[in-house]
Amino acid sequence: LQERVVQQLSLSKTDDAVEDIRVHLLGKKGDLTKILKGLKDLAPDQRPLVGQLANEIRHNLEEQIEDKRARLAKALLDRQLAAEQIDVTLPGKTVTIGTKHVLQQIQDQIEDHFISQGFQVMYGTEVETDEFNFARMNLPKDHPARDMQDTFYLTPNILLRTQTSAMQARAMDRHDFATGPLKMVSPGKVYRRDNDDATHSHQFHQVEGLVVGKGITLADLKGTLQALTDELFGKGHAMRFRQSYFPFTEPSLEVDISWNIVDDQTPAEDIRWIEVLGAGMVHPNVLKMAHIDPEEYTGFAFGLGPDRFAMIKYGIDDIRNFYLDDLRFLKQFSQVG
Ligand code: PHE
Repeated sequence: LQERVVQQLSLSKTDDAVEDIRVHLLGKKGDLTKILKGLKDLAPDQRPLVGQLANEIRHNLEEQIEDKRARLAKALLDRQLAAEQIDVTLPGKTVTIGTKHVLQQIQDQIEDHFISQGFQVMYGTEVETDEFNFARMNLPKDHPARDMQDTFYLTPNILLRTQTSAMQARAMDRHDFATGPLKMVSPGKVYRRDNDDATHSHQFHQVEGLVVGKGITLADLKGTLQALTDELFGKGHAMRFRQSYFPFTEPSLEVDISWNIVDDQTPAEDIRWIEVLGAGMVHPNVLKMAHIDPEEYTGFAFGLGPDRFAMIKYGIDDIRNFYLDDLRFLKQFSQVG
C-alpha cells in the first residue's frame, strides 16, 4: 500500500490529484482507515504490532502528502512569477492627465478672490423658475425687457436660467440681516436663445455678485470691481462705466475693461475696451419683494462674464473655443495640480 501511494504521489501533478489520493487513503472509507478499523478483529497480541506499523505508515504518508503539496504550490508560484515578469526596457505608455478647463480656472480665481474679501459663494441651479429668474428681478410676465433675454422655456413657469441674477432673491431670502450685510457671489452656466458666433453662445457663464447692507454706495461697487480686475489681470487695466438699463438695478451700468495696460497719459484712442459686465444699485422693488426696507438698506449687484475675462486674460478671440473641446486649444491651458 505504502509503495503504491508513493508511486501515485510522484505521478500526480495537481493539488486536486493529491487530495484524491489522500481521500482514498485516509478518508472515511480510505484504505488505511479500513486497516486501522480492522485492528479490532485481530488477535489481541497482534494488535499493538500491526497498529504501530499502520500508524507509522500513516504518519509517513501524511508527511509525503504535505510535502508534495508544498512542492506543487511552489511550482505554481514559480510559473506565475515567470509568466508575469515585467520587461522594464519596454517603452512605457503615456498617461494623459486631464486638467481643469480654462473657464473653470478663471471661475476658481474669481471665487478665491471674493472669498478673500469675505463673500460667500452660492451655487444655484440651471433650471429655474420664472419667479426667481424674472418676477423677483422686477420683470413681471408682460414686461417688455424680457425680450432682452430670449429664453428657453421648459414649461410656462420653468426655464433654463438666463442670468445668475436668479440667485439674488434666493440669497436675500436666506440671509439674516441681523448678522451683518449680505455679500455673495454666484457662479454658473446660463442659457439664451442666440445664434452662436465669435462673441455669442447659447450657453455661457456668469458670476453674479450681490452686496446688500446699510450705507452701500456706487463707490463700493467701483472699488470692488477694480480690486477684482487688479487681482485677475494685474494693475494697469482701466475700467470704464457706461450708463445702461436693467430692470433690477437703478442706476444701471455697463462696465468695460481695457485689453491693454494704460495710464493717465494714454491717449483715449489707444485704449481698447471690452465689455465685461452689467451692474448697478439694487432696485428698490427687488429689495421690497425680499421684504427688505429700501429706506434702511441699499445694495449693489453685478453680473460678470468669466468667458470674457478669460478672453482678455489669455488673448482668446473666439468664444466658441471654450465649447468645442478641441484638445489643441484646451492643452494650452493645462496646469499642474
Ligand atoms: N443679469 C444681467 C445680465 O445678464 C447682468 C446684471 C447683473 C446687471 C446684476 C445688473 C446687475 O445681463
